[in-house]
Amino acid sequence: MTVTGRKQITVSPGMRHARIHGLGGYRPERVVTNEEICQFIDSSDEWIQQRSGIVSRRRAAEDETVIDMAEAASRQALERAGISADQIGVVIMATVSHPFQTPAAAPGLAHRLGIPNPAAFDISAACAGYCHGISLANDMVRAGTADYVLVIGVEKLSDFTDKHDRGSAFIFGDGAGAAVVGVSDYPGIGPTLWGSMGEQAEAITQRESWTELRPQMEDTGRTDPIAWPSFVMQGQTVFRWAVFSMAPVAVQTVEAAGLTPDDLDAFVPHQANMRITDAMIKALKLPQHVPVARDIAETGNTSAASIPLAMSRMLDEGEAPHGGIALQIGFGAGLVYASQVVIMP
Ligand code: UT7
Repeated sequence: MTVTGRKQITVSPGMRHARIHGLGGYRPERVVTNEEICQFIDSSDEWIQQRSGIVSRRRAAEDETVIDMAEAASRQALERAGISADQIGVVIMATVSHPFQTPAAAPGLAHRLGIPNPAAFDISAACAGYCHGISLANDMVRAGTADYVLVIGVEKLSDFTDKHDRGSAFIFGDGAGAAVVGVSDYPGIGPTLWGSMGEQAEAITQRESWTELRPQMEDTGRTDPIAWPSFVMQGQTVFRWAVFSMAPVAVQTVEAAGLTPDDLDAFVPHQANMRITDAMIKALKLPQHVPVARDIAETGNTSAASIPLAMSRMLDEGEAPHGGIALQIGFGAGLVYASQVVIMP
């Protein structure tokens, strides 16, 4: 009985530890070169490589959905974690390119994977979506809300890219990355530093809202294709913000975990632009021995998928050690960001 005389609510016992048990990644088959991109914009392979570090990116097939890509990445993450579908209690899908306002993609994914009756929902935090998902999953596992949480970052940005827009056509790619977060004997996910700057909403945005396009369809009765609300970006604004504001966040994230850059075994920033990564390395004074994710060269900027894809590649190629400490930081449309130190599976 409580002091008010009512029955007490039963809650989960105290905080537990959480860690990433397994990671998975999926890159669509089709490789799109800079030459192909330059068929539609006034640019060159040389300019794209110099200004962004991108050599090629992957594009999903016409009929390949974010749920298809998320399924492939999730199956690999579950297998590597040694966790069965029925152990998953929550599915969190980070995406901004699922082309349905409703329902969310996560319940459909959970159904495909045969996860019985999980809580399943999408989050919209753009390129920081995966790190937001890891933070939520960590808190849920630690608090006892769930034992295992499946976190997916997935994008089919090709559906929302204007191939004629010089400022963004070359940057985006498609793909999926997934992580199984679950109970652990030791702390495997450090404190998350996150935040938002809504005053910078215009910096990366869908060009028109769905409702702005509606009159074109309904009032004019037009049947020809209407303008498509692709994502557009004020490249330089985002670039400057990422370089000057995100580097201090990365430093504070390492400090919040009680570590120094020297303790890191990998640095996995959002794969936004190779020059942003280089600037962050300098600002962090990252020791030479710490390997840095450079997946953008062959994968492009896959927004929510970029960090788990890049970390999976580093582990698969032996560039980063299993069980090592990695710093990950996501930043993008909102503007929003989230960052944490994790023990790699
Ligand atoms: O994932 C979400 C977060 N996103 C990001 O973090 C992206 C951040 N921004 C960027 O990565 C870069 O701003 C871009 C790669 C998008 C652009 O690079 P930039 O160095 O900022 O280019 P800029 O817009 O400052 O343009 C520099 C020059 C201009 O020419 P002038 O005025 O110097 O003669 C542009 O007209 O490059 C020109 N330019 C291009 N040239 C060839 C702009 N776009 C292109 C292009 N091809 N596609």
